[in-house]
Amino acid sequence: MPGDKTKFYLTTPIYYTNGLPHIGHTYTTVVADAIRRYKRMRGYEVVMTTGTDEHGVNVERAAQKAGIPESEYVAKMAVAWKALWDELGIPADEFIRTTDIRHVRTVQWLFKLCRENGYVYKGNYTGQYCIYDNAFVTDAKPGDNCPDCGRPTETVTEENYYFKLSAFQKPLLDFYKKNPEFIQPETRRNEIISFVEGGLKDSSITRTTLRWGIPVPGEDPHVFYVWFDALTAYLSAVGGPEYEKRGMWPADLHLVGKDIIRFHTVYWPAFLMAAMLPVPKQVWAHGWFLMDASKMSKSKGNVVLPRPIANMLGMDAMRYFLLREVVFGQDGNFSYDALVTRYNSDLANGLGNLASRTAAMIEKSFGGKIPKPGPRLPQDEALAKTASEVIGEALDRFEKFEFARSLEAIWSAIAAADKYLTSEQPWAMGDSEADMQRKATILWTTAELLRVVTILAYPVLPDSTAKVWTLLGQPGRVSAVELDGLRWGQLAAGVQLGKAQALFPRVDKQEAIERIEAMANEELNPTPQPAPAAAPAPAATSGGAAAAPAPEKIGIEDFTKVEMRVGQIKTAERIVGADKLLKLTVDIGTEIRQICAGIAQFYEPEKLIGRKVAVVVNLAPRKLRGVESNGMIVAASVGPEGRPVLAGFPDEDVEIGARLK
Ligand code: MSP
Repeated sequence: MPGDKTKFYLTTPIYYTNGLPHIGHTYTTVVADAIRRYKRMRGYEVVMTTGTDEHGVNVERAAQKAGIPESEYVAKMAVAWKALWDELGIPADEFIRTTDIRHVRTVQWLFKLCRENGYVYKGNYTGQYCIYDNAFVTDAKPGDNCPDCGRPTETVTEENYYFKLSAFQKPLLDFYKKNPEFIQPETRRNEIISFVEGGLKDSSITRTTLRWGIPVPGEDPHVFYVWFDALTAYLSAVGGPEYEKRGMWPADLHLVGKDIIRFHTVYWPAFLMAAMLPVPKQVWAHGWFLMDASKMSKSKGNVVLPRPIANMLGMDAMRYFLLREVVFGQDGNFSYDALVTRYNSDLANGLGNLASRTAAMIEKSFGGKIPKPGPRLPQDEALAKTASEVIGEALDRFEKFEFARSLEAIWSAIAAADKYLTSEQPWAMGDSEADMQRKATILWTTAELLRVVTILAYPVLPDSTAKVWTLLGQPGRVSAVELDGLRWGQLAAGVQLGKAQALFPRVDKQEAIERIEAMANEELNPTPQPAPAAAPAPAATSGGAAAAPAPEKIGIEDFTKVEMRVGQIKTAERIVGADKLLKLTVDIGTEIRQICAGIAQFYEPEKLIGRKVAVVVNLAPRKLRGVESNGMIVAASVGPEGRPVLAGFPDEDVEIGARLK
């Protein structure tokens, strides 16, 4: 059972494993993560589940194509999905795989309950089946395409176990009526109600034509149909048959895309009612992120990947954009242009700028200690009033999942603070007692507003608000602040500011977009890595990993293929969004080259200028984190973590461009 806190259990869909995550999947998971963080600040004990949907024909085919067993294929994919969510800072509390034994048990148990209660029977079924969506297409004739994905359907006849969905028309309609919050948003609720009012047909829940599925005990060759299997994952993740022990079921919230609302609001509650199990409290269907007005898919070549965006602008920027740009529930267009524009205007110039200038002024005038405010003037009171109203508005909107409106409210407070500073001009005040007192009031007021904004924005911007929290010298973690107690005026004077860390460095739009696209391209079409025997010597630009086991011996003719020359570093700079890389320009005698080197964590860029290094000059150019690199700097790879140490010429003055032999 959860402790004395109220529990909140929420889920994302469990994603198909025949592809890798794109921004659409990331969207649902980001929303779930933001709600989870928010609910925790509201004092709930929260569990968030996501996972992978690993059975079905598509997986069978994908594994076949990859030439490996299904189990191996799905294991690899599940690792990739989980690792990406972890890397992006949106990890599941429960990551459920439909091949987990805890899930297999739960599906078989649910079936048994439905059968014992008289809602399952055997029958034959012939129909048009969409292999891509793993569903029979109701009312389709042979030759028809699937209305959802447009692909051709196939005629399939087989013996199935049927679920008596028809028996649930009235119970479902009664349930929707009694629980008007169950289906959100309102438009979807109306759609589903009229669908159910139109009559429900029984639905097959097992297959005999499918091999890769959960077996129906004692009923070989029946395996469970993917939706009976997949939906049950929500329950398997929090205890399955022993769900009462964990105390998390029924789910408080299933977040889904609008494409799968019917499965979640008709089939799923019906399965649970048939088994006499508690039904989830709410299903929220969001819209799609579209690319050039159509749904993303790898086959159309219009997928947007999350990792390159996170690398370039930070994960917080992506989270902010996804939640700020579209009204939750509606479709929205994804564009890199809009993303970078919002990054620069709202994050770099907005929150980032307010935080750094407030801290700089407190540093300069008050030795970095938050000043004690003096008497308040009407303009100070007005800002305080705005902030208090924003607290109410932002929380109220977030509670209703109106994320864009909540963020809009928070950013209106930032804009009000900018305006306040511009008109009060604390930087123009002198050192007289009156000026210092006035300055103290202005800077305390601004810092207090920043504290309020930081707390409110935390669920959406967890990394950067944690940095602002440290900057403001606040105790504990921002995530631990209780939202219910948040009021204007709680900022203590006398607190020493903490360490400043880069928040949102401004980026050049064109360059940022090019780099995101280059990284995405690299991820979608990775350049084949050279075979180990042909790999160049351990080098900084290759990521600095420790050397691979010694390859077989090579002849001198192979060695001479590698052209290494003495180069001199002319410029060196850090790369936004690539913590490990430095962008160098290197004079190699005949020309000046741009080369990226993975040494940023070990070498200060300024100290490298003028240094002579060994350069592999005949490597094919490639892009690293979206930045062109034309050559490679040679370095030793030292210690277990492969610390790069640049090869050099400390004793003799060697000529630039001289060849290493
Ligand atoms: N495996 C099923 C779900 C089973 S849940 C018991 C499935 N998987 S999926 O990989 O296709 O992911 C579907 C979910 O990903 C959608 O419902 C939606 O949440 C999200 N999205 C996929 N593409 C999307 C967009 N382009 N835009 C927004 N969300 C999208 O269906």
